Parts: sequence; C-alpha cells; structure tokens
Amino acid sequence: MQVNESSLVGARDVGAEIGVIGAGYVGLTSGACFAYLGHEVVCADVDESKINLLNSGRIGIHEQGLAAKVEDGLTSNRLSFVTDPAEAVAKADFVFLCLPTPPRKDGSADLSFISSAVSEIARVMQPDTILVSKSTVPPGTSELLEQILARADVTDVAVAHNPEFLREGTAVNDFLQPDRVVIGANDQSVADKIAGLYANIPTQIVVTDTTTAETTKYVANAFLATKLSFVNSAAALCEVLGADVKDVMTALGHDRRIGAGFLKPGPGWGGSCLPKDSRALVNVAATAGYDFSLLRSALEVNEQQFDRIVAKVADRVVLEGARVALLGLAFKAETNDIRSSPSLEIAQRLIDAGAKVHAYDPAVTAEDLHEITGLVVESDAYAACARASALLIATEWNEFRQLDVERIVTLMYDHHIIDARNLLHRDLWVKHGFTYTGVGIFNSDEKLPVRVPARQARQE
Ligand code: UGA
Repeated sequence: MQVNESSLVGARDVGAEIGVIGAGYVGLTSGACFAYLGHEVVCADVDESKINLLNSGRIGIHEQGLAAKVEDGLTSNRLSFVTDPAEAVAKADFVFLCLPTPPRKDGSADLSFISSAVSEIARVMQPDTILVSKSTVPPGTSELLEQILARADVTDVAVAHNPEFLREGTAVNDFLQPDRVVIGANDQSVADKIAGLYANIPTQIVVTDTTTAETTKYVANAFLATKLSFVNSAAALCEVLGADVKDVMTALGHDRRIGAGFLKPGPGWGGSCLPKDSRALVNVAATAGYDFSLLRSALEVNEQQFDRIVAKVADRVVLEGARVALLGLAFKAETNDIRSSPSLEIAQRLIDAGAKVHAYDPAVTAEDLHEITGLVVESDAYAACARASALLIATEWNEFRQLDVERIVTLMYDHHIIDARNLLHRDLWVKHGFTYTGVGIFNSDEKLPVRVPARQARQE
C-alpha cells in the first residue's frame, strides 16, 4: 500500500466519543490527553481497585503531569472510569485498545488480552465505530482483529492502528507534543477520522496501511535499542582506547543525521518496552523468514552491559561478602517502573556473586519488588551507603547529583564509586578519597587528558 504523508487531512472539530480499553500507562495517558483535547472519554479497566483510585483522582503511578490531566478530565466530566468495557464502548465513535502484550517464553507477543477484549466488545460497539489498537502489536494484528470481528458477524466496524510513542516520565508531553502521529488504516476516510482526533495538535501525520504502522512502532523501538547498544559498545571501546565517550557523543550529537538524543551510555537499556519489543521483533522476523541478526546482537550487547557493570564493581571490591550500596532501582529517572530494570539485573548478578546489596530509589519501595530476594531496600541514600564498600549509581535521578559527599565518606566502609550513569562529579569524589569508575570515561586512576580551551584549539 502507498504511504501518504499528510498533515491533518479532513480534520474534524473536537468532541468525539472515545472508549479506551485498559487504563495502564498508555490507556490512562491517552484517555486523559484526549479528554484534555476536548473529547468525551470513557476509560475501562478490569482492575476494580485501580478504577476506584482513578475515580478518586489518584493515578497510582509516578508520571509527570498525568494526575493533573486526570483531575481536569474528571472535573470537566469529559473523562470517566468504569470496570465494564461494554460501558466504555457502547456510545463510542472510536475505541482505543491499550492493553498489555506481554512476552511469551519464546519472546513473541501474547495477544490474548487484546483478542479476548475484542471478542467481548465486538457486539456492543455501534455500527461505524473505529476500533484502533494503540498498544504495540506484531504486524498482522489488525487483520487478526478483523477476523475476530467477522467471527462475531460484525462487519461494520473498521480496524486501525495508531501506535503510541510515549516515554514513561514524559508521556503527557509526548502525547500533546509528538514528533509525529502514525495512523495505519486500510481506508483513507478511516485514517482521516482518526487524524481529526489530533486536530488541536500541530504535528506531522504519517498515514499508511495497518501492517506498515504496526511494523513502524516495532522498528522505532528496535532502532532506539540498537542505538543504545551501539553507544554502550562505543563506551567500551573508549575504555580500551583511553578515549572519553562523553566528548565522542557530544561530537556525534551535532551531526543532524545521527541526532543528539539517546546517546548516553549507561548500565544497559531496560523498561517495559525496548527489551520486550526487541525480542518480539526478532521473533516476528524469524517467523517471517528473516534473521534480524543486528537486533539479536543489540540484545546480546545489552546483556553484556549488565555483566560489564558488575565487573567494574568486582574490579574494586571482592564481591563475596561485600556490601554494595545501589542507588536507583527504576529503569530510568522520573518513573517508579522497575520492569526489566538494568538496576535489578545488576543487583541480581551482584547478589548471586555473594554481595549484600542495599538499595535506595526515590520512587520505588520494598513492596514494589517481588522479583529479587536478598535485596534490602533502604529509606534513603545514606542508609544504603552505611558500611558499604562500593557505591553503584544505576538510575540517573537528579537527587543523586546532590549527595553529601562528606557524609558518605564517613558512612562507607571502603570508598569506591561505580557510576553507571556518569552522573556524579568525578573530581569532587576523588578529592574526598574515592576511586571513581564511570562508563566509557576516564577513571580516577587514569591520567586525565590535557584540556585545550576551544578558542585556543582553533587558533593552533
Ligand atoms: C520507549 C520509547 O522511547 C518510546 O518511544 C516508546 O513509546 C516506549 O518505549 C513504548 O514502546 O511504549 P520508555 O520505555 O519510556 O520509552 O523508555 P526510554 O526513555 O526509551 O528509555 C529506555 C531505556 O534506555 C532506559 O533504560 C534508559 O535509561 C535507557 N537510555 C535512554 C540510556 O541508557 N541512554 C539514553 O541516552 C537514553
């Protein structure tokens, strides 16, 4: 099918009736933002306690600006929450599917939540409703949904795909100021109607067929994952060559073909999407007859990155019996999400090697952690550092930049920093007697390069 690029073709006035199935990150953000844009939104979730919480104006997740948008929606009566999906879709012009697609054992996406929801609502939807999947789904899923509708004798509901590109922590902003909106529909008038929902947002709209839209989302996440594995590999290269990855990436970021985003080396990439979607795409590709070896390598490099960080700690302390302070449990800053968090991957490896890991995260509590036994969660950074031999920074929370170095010197048993986010001021910590190990940058026991001021460098 031909790919069209258009901006807001056939945009309609605001005020559509929207049903959202699933009130997780994607459903809640989309629902609250659609309501903010002037639509009438009914959001359904089977989790009754979540719905009660939402109806009382609380969101239960750490997401900047989202609670305010939910409150606005509830106050204006444009946003409501229900437990019965039928209630959410009964009057809807558009139904957005925002349900999880968890990985199966082989890495492929489990579509059972989506398929059973569609079977359940198939006969409740009004004729001419547009059913849109927003969750990340394998290419071909829209066709599968059409088949489910057809089996229920529903032939007057169009199926489309409108992938989300929201980042946790900045989801509201990403929804309201997107780099682009992608609409996959096999009928231009359906695409136009979906584009109308975004009429108040100035952005590029890319209209294409459903399979291409589904593929676009997977490929976007795979590209980001590959970019990060490349950056982490470049950091490892810098370490063996004695180069500084920060300067390398600053220089690369000025190249508009590369782009300045997603160039920070770290403990490896994680979260609920990049690892899951990358594995699913490797699986989708293999099933379709293509060995996506580049993406397989990106996944392997990411596993190696967790090991590399553990090796950095082991270079400084004997892990067996050592106490390690781990700062940061969330997979990145500004979220309390620990799904596929690099920090937990690393913690598990340290514990397996005999270390005692005491962790602190500003947004994650002990109750959030079910996966790791032997990890002690402390109430602040200083409690985590007490009697520790090494301090490992795993998440780039701003508050870790402000740590009281003098207090930590007295609290720790031995004085080693492993900064997996290159967050701390290296020289400050070294001045206080710590060894400092970053990622792809000069460690405290390496000779620093002579810095030539930029102007002088140009004159030479
Ligand atoms: C990711 C994508 O960025 C979104 O576009 C997409 O919509 C979303 O997945 C999804 O599929 O729903 P998110 O999971 O919120 O969003 O996380 P990112 O901000 O992409 O970060 C992913 C990982 O990369 C994190 O572990 C982060 O710490 C790491 N990262 C990111 C780095 O190590 N360095 C960087 O420079 C950037």
